[in-house]
Amino acid sequence: MRGYFVSFEGPDGAGKSTVLKEVLDKIGPKLKTQYLVTREPGGSKIAEKIRDIILDPANDKMDAKTEALLYAAARSQHVEEIIRPALSEGKIVFSDRFVDSSLAYQGEGRDLGIKEVKQINDFATGKLDPDLTFFLDIAPEVGLNRIQKLRPGQEDRLEQENMAFHKKVYAGFLKVKNLYPDRFVTIDASQPIDDVVNQVIETLEKRLPEIF
Ligand code: TYD
Repeated sequence: MRGYFVSFEGPDGAGKSTVLKEVLDKIGPKLKTQYLVTREPGGSKIAEKIRDIILDPANDKMDAKTEALLYAAARSQHVEEIIRPALSEGKIVFSDRFVDSSLAYQGEGRDLGIKEVKQINDFATGKLDPDLTFFLDIAPEVGLNRIQKLRPGQEDRLEQENMAFHKKVYAGFLKVKNLYPDRFVTIDASQPIDDVVNQVIETLEKRLPEIF
């Protein structure tokens, strides 16, 4: 069997990490081959170090292009060291964020341009695209509100950005999902978590029956 690559995207506070964990708790034992759960920025030792630099609230002078290149650098390492080898071994890779986050946050949020940010990411990943991408759709106000309730005073550098930034990021995600309608599936993330989890599982069963 060939490997499959599934990514989870969405604004801050959409609940990606929790949903991903609950989905795999439920379907992990039923999958045909081994699977791997990973995340960005990070996912490998070197990439996690780059993550610390990017998200450190002390780095408030970071230039937008520096930020985009650091995300792409972390991603390159993550792809070469973790994702591509796993896919070559026929594993299923589930990633909490991938290139689409850069297109929305840096391309649209930071005004660098979706096309421009896609180019540096194509260089970083060798044009690796997910087979399927879940967009956990939550209004930016609701997402940030969840984070402030969940871990008050502990927002990372990106989460600390103002509402105008987060609204642009959200608009960016809508543009990106329209660019790739074949691989994007939108799930309403304002629903109770169990419903979100079940809809993700139903979609996986329908779209990638071969992995079960
Ligand atoms: P994430 O790990 O999803 O946040 P958390 O662990 O707090 O849930 O992502 C960290 C932040 O990085 C988040 O605000 C989104 C941002 N980000 C980008 O701006 N560009 C990217 O390419 C990626 C992967 C994340």
